[in-house]
Amino acid sequence: MSVDVQERNRLSAAVVGESAPDYKRKFSLPQYYYTSPELYRKEMEFLRSKLWLMAAHESQIPKNGDFKLFEIDGESIILCRDLQGDVHAFYNVCRHRGSPVCVTNEGNAKAFSCPYHSWTFMLDGTLKRPRAMDASFDPKEWNLKAAHLGNLDGLLFVCLAKGEAPSFEEFAGRIRPFISQYGLTKAKPVYVQDDLIVTNWKLPLENYRENYHISSVHQDLGRVMGAAMDHSNGESHAERMSRLGRSLPMVYDEAESLYLQQAIQFAFGKDQVSATQDGSAASSLMPTITEWSKGWTYINFNPLSHINLQDDYAIMVFFTPVSETVTKTSMVFLVNEDAVEGKDLDVKKLIDLYVVTMAEDNVVLGRHQKGIESGAYEPAPLALEEDQIVLFHDWYFNRVHGVPTA
Ligand code: FES
Ligand SMILES: [Fe+2]
Repeated sequence: MSVDVQERNRLSAAVVGESAPDYKRKFSLPQYYYTSPELYRKEMEFLRSKLWLMAAHESQIPKNGDFKLFEIDGESIILCRDLQGDVHAFYNVCRHRGSPVCVTNEGNAKAFSCPYHSWTFMLDGTLKRPRAMDASFDPKEWNLKAAHLGNLDGLLFVCLAKGEAPSFEEFAGRIRPFISQYGLTKAKPVYVQDDLIVTNWKLPLENYRENYHISSVHQDLGRVMGAAMDHSNGESHAERMSRLGRSLPMVYDEAESLYLQQAIQFAFGKDQVSATQDGSAASSLMPTITEWSKGWTYINFNPLSHINLQDDYAIMVFFTPVSETVTKTSMVFLVNEDAVEGKDLDVKKLIDLYVVTMAEDNVVLGRHQKGIESGAYEPAPLALEEDQIVLFHDWYFNRVHGVPTA
């Protein structure tokens, strides 16, 4: 990063600290919002203390002893299933002198034995009495620290708040009826993809929120999304959803909201039943779906945590900040746990559209960050189709900086 950029970053810390932000509404953000370490720290304080972050689906740790790590902003969280089958979230920090106790991303274990001096923690976080400690040492006081954990039909959310977490029910309650239609408690993962990209965390989610780039970047997605609606059989999507008992009032949060949530039911185009390259099914129906709705459900839990639900599969989409200029984008594809590859499941067909789309986006995002870091970059007016970015910016200034913009 150039000296000029570092100097601007220092200035930004002062600007965003107390007074109104250096930001023009309906414009892209100034450079330092995508580069400043000070600003990034302020954002992470907010994300850690106020948000429930989607971390995994519990079918990713199906057996007792299974574990996987969820890492965000340098923090490592162990998600594990204990010998009674209960799921836990622990900070991956040894209570002796702080080494990570778990150094593999996923696997199955009877306990977590710290690689440094072998303090051993059971799957419920309790410490087994370590060797060579003073007689007054009480292991019960040195268990692994738990992170706040919420579970919505197997979708696991963590909150890294130091004290009390925000209400999980308030966070998840309005979205639950949309999720519950699909029976995710009887789902299984068939494909997981993580990509590290050199970009500030706000660029992937701004990109996710606008369709303005689709015609230039995503040929395949553009074709699938551009298919004309089918009104030939006299039943509209709304009527079909009503007949199936699946109509729900849409969730569409404003900038003042806690989480900027959205939950919306959309119709596919003519002859499409799923989000695949040719629109045909790639798996059997999700566990609680009985008839093809020819539509899908788009959900934003918060600007970092998303899930799209088709009648034959669900895709969890995560944007996870690593540092001010590195972000992990992740996808987890879930299907009915009874689906069998080669019989009623075609994994390649199921993942292809999103894998192609994410690869295209990741290339664009890496380039975009590089361009923003140029001395020639300056904020410019957003297009009408980028109105969801404006909504995100309004929420961001409201919630993160406490400065209403609208
Ligand atoms: S730091 Fe873990 S046992 Fe010493
Ligand atoms: Fe895209």
